[in-house]
Amino acid sequence: MSAGIKKSNTKRRVKKPTGKKSSRISGFHALGRVERLAAVAEFAGLDSKTQKQFQSTGNLPGELAERLIENVIGTMNVPIGVATNLIVDGEELLVPMATEESSVVAAVCNAARQCRNTGGITASTSGALMIAQIQLVEVSDPEAARLKILEHKSEIAEICDGADPILIELGGGFRDLEVRVLQTQGGPMVISHLIVDTRDAMGANAVNTMAERLAPYIARWTGGKTYLRILSNLADRRLARARAVWKPSAIAVKGLGKQNMPGKKVRDGMLAAYHFAAADPYRATTHNKGIMNGISAVTLATGNDTRAIEAGAHAFAAQSGQYTPLTRWEIDGDGNLVGSLEMPLAMGIIGGATKAHPTARACLDIMDVKSAEKLQRITAAVGLCQNFAALKALATVGVQKGHMALHAQNIALMAGAKGTEIDRIAQIMTQKETVRLDIAEAELKQLRAN
Ligand code: MEV
Repeated sequence: MSAGIKKSNTKRRVKKPTGKKSSRISGFHALGRVERLAAVAEFAGLDSKTQKQFQSTGNLPGELAERLIENVIGTMNVPIGVATNLIVDGEELLVPMATEESSVVAAVCNAARQCRNTGGITASTSGALMIAQIQLVEVSDPEAARLKILEHKSEIAEICDGADPILIELGGGFRDLEVRVLQTQGGPMVISHLIVDTRDAMGANAVNTMAERLAPYIARWTGGKTYLRILSNLADRRLARARAVWKPSAIAVKGLGKQNMPGKKVRDGMLAAYHFAAADPYRATTHNKGIMNGISAVTLATGNDTRAIEAGAHAFAAQSGQYTPLTRWEIDGDGNLVGSLEMPLAMGIIGGATKAHPTARACLDIMDVKSAEKLQRITAAVGLCQNFAALKALATVGVQKGHMALHAQNIALMAGAKGTEIDRIAQIMTQKETVRLDIAEAELKQLRAN
């Protein structure tokens, strides 16, 4: 593409090498969104219906989407469902969750309802401390280099705080310095950790800027060479915690005929499920995946970085050397089931998509969230409820029953059902306890014939 290409919405063809299809589309980034989509459509042979699908950007205006990431051609809309029944630290809350997975929102509603009579969920956080790492190599005396860096702590505090005056105004800033000598395949490295209070920001930008500012000083003081200067997503100084109590009477399974289950039996089954996860990383991974169903859904709804949260969660779960569950379950002296969750939650409410995305802001408004700390507490509560619901389903009726109703509707839709046909076909398949596309198609045919 010639250098003269400017963003515009006029139809313009992208010059591509003739002959063989090539993904090298020079100047692609400089095109307008419509032109970019046309280029992709030409490359991939998209029909006009598919192109229309991309053109509709839902509640994220296309112009804004283009400011968030590069080479935008459309948006991916995910449903937002609202979890009801939550009481977190005494506050009644409705929590928006963005997820494509059925049953996730309903699960939180059910779990939260069943602990309302014990006051809901109690949550807390450890503070908003983020870690930035600076990697120093090529030092002949790593232990001495470590001490040299530590000797400059007050200068380091000044350099870091000077990099972000607004954070200082908000009460955040540099808090501590830790330096380790790390033995690696490539020889010893000296790793500095800047510990920074990032207040209501997730803090990646703030700590990365500080690390980049500081690195040349560290190289000068030690005579070594610095490479990486980046935050750690193992945010183990930014923990969120949640705990709740479920009475056996509140968790009994009723209305399932022979499958009626008294609360104590449900409780014991859930405890056994937890013990399984605590002993077995294969199960712990799925256990934690269920927790992340809730955590990631609130993270996404509020425009936070789902990958940062997920990486931190899984690393934290493996900190002992074995991958373990993020929740714990036990029985208290009164025979109640007590669940607790502790995990890193590096979430912010200022900056990035949390600020720019209108839906993210609206989701924060629903929860009246004015601080990152409150958002962390709510998210941890949702994670705990999510785990409760999964363990309860697994220890009793299984997860498929809960999934079935919505899944059946999806399949009915896929079979071509419209309007009231969708519910009818879904109902027939649920009653038959067989949800399959061929069945949906056959039932639809019959329904229409009648
Ligand atoms: C499904 O998305 C999540 C579960 O597998 C979690 C679990 O097994 O604990 C149901």
